[in-house]
Amino acid sequence: MSGLLPRPRLFSPLEGVVTWTSPLRVVADAALEGAARRFGADLAGALGWEVVVDVGDADGQIVVRQTGDLGDEGYRLQVDDVTIIEATSAAGASYALTTLRQLAPAIAWSSALAIVGSLDVARASCEDAPRFAWRGVHLDVARHFFDVATVMRFIDLIAAHRLNRLHLHLNDDQGWRVEVPGWPRLTKVGSTRRSSPVGHERDGLDDGVFHGGFFTDDDLVSLREYAASRHVVIVPEIDLPGHAQAAIAAYPELGNTDETLEVWTRWGISEHVLNVEEATFAFAEAAVGHVADLFPASPVHIGGDECPTVEWENSPAAQRVMVERGLTSTRELQGLFTTRLGTLLRRRGHEVLAWDEVLDADVPDGTVIVAWREAAKGVEAARRGYDVVMAPMQSLYFDWLNSGELAEPVAIAPAPHVTTWESVYGFEVVPARLEAELAHHVRGAQAQLWTEYIATREHLDYMAFPRLCAFSEVVWGTAGDLEEFRGRLRTHLARLDAMGIAYRALEG
Ligand code: ACM
Repeated sequence: MSGLLPRPRLFSPLEGVVTWTSPLRVVADAALEGAARRFGADLAGALGWEVVVDVGDADGQIVVRQTGDLGDEGYRLQVDDVTIIEATSAAGASYALTTLRQLAPAIAWSSALAIVGSLDVARASCEDAPRFAWRGVHLDVARHFFDVATVMRFIDLIAAHRLNRLHLHLNDDQGWRVEVPGWPRLTKVGSTRRSSPVGHERDGLDDGVFHGGFFTDDDLVSLREYAASRHVVIVPEIDLPGHAQAAIAAYPELGNTDETLEVWTRWGISEHVLNVEEATFAFAEAAVGHVADLFPASPVHIGGDECPTVEWENSPAAQRVMVERGLTSTRELQGLFTTRLGTLLRRRGHEVLAWDEVLDADVPDGTVIVAWREAAKGVEAARRGYDVVMAPMQSLYFDWLNSGELAEPVAIAPAPHVTTWESVYGFEVVPARLEAELAHHVRGAQAQLWTEYIATREHLDYMAFPRLCAFSEVVWGTAGDLEEFRGRLRTHLARLDAMGIAYRALEG
């Protein structure tokens, strides 16, 4: 099937091809004009063609019509002398145009201007819609900062695979990457570390090189708008109360000890976490609230993973809070953050996400749990009535090795912790153990790109692709036979070549 990827739900090849030349004329209903213009600009950028987009009843070789019955993301596509696209939403129209572009030669995906006089597009008929609403990719911009241009390019690549969520991990022990009004030292101090590990963390070597960067509010608004035009929702994360050493380095009063801390220069889990005083909750609300305001239509992720409690155990102030609140375990202190931040965000109309550790303390109803430690955490969350996004590290952490080969670049976990594109293709989004009547709690899945060991755009490409290709089909809901997929993937790689993606070769 022309190497379509992710595979559409229903597809019928028809005899022959349609030949396009410049100028190409597209006509769209007003509600779908944005998708048509995006397609036109992308094709014009790839081929140097004139692509004329009209709204209303004009003639065109591609006609994009709104219809009422295809849902949030579905579409119908009939490729012929006049190609007809039907969709209810702009996202559906955009996915149809993505599939249409895949029916043209790979050069239609060129990121550098390719000069061609005509394109033969395979005639076909297609009806399609995704199975899962949450088709996510997570990118850690805290361990290594990636600038606006790199994130925009990454948005292009995930949108090309009909993925629709970009979860941005905006702070960690090793760097704070967003401005917060009234808290200038977060970026002045917290956004730069003086050194990073060389090789693997366990080797204990330092590069002695400053690493830093942060997004201004304007940067984040640009990213939001850019992503929205490609039907990708950015999900910002402020990770609290653990993974907070950069914040404490900027504002020592947020910490539990008198120790002077720097933005962490090692990888791992710092035991320096936020204290549980009222002023610190106010800080957390200011930080999370500000980021939420920049993404008014987005779900917001409040972190909650890997929060060591040793400082709370040794802190008289934390112990006092436990007595006042009648808590019996320091673990329960984390619930104070989950509840405060969750309440604030929901009052402002945001959906709230958190890593699965929040289940170990109070967690408000309606919180969406991102199950990362193992699929069983997703099962537990669903049984307790929470919606879940499946992100188990054993299957969907793309910072893990691509293979067990010795030549593989250093990655976070040693072999046998290997995640091949073939194993990703076999991932079942809905855990087999989950009772069928609870399957509706599974919103979808998300692939994680933690960046301790990913410092460049090329290495990001290498870790992301082709595993994200396999993932996109799994979460679209049309994954099937691996060997059939392998053939389509080979065809698809020509598109990745045209896009200039430094992907990992399939074998070797
Ligand atoms: C995580 O990997 N700490 C969510």
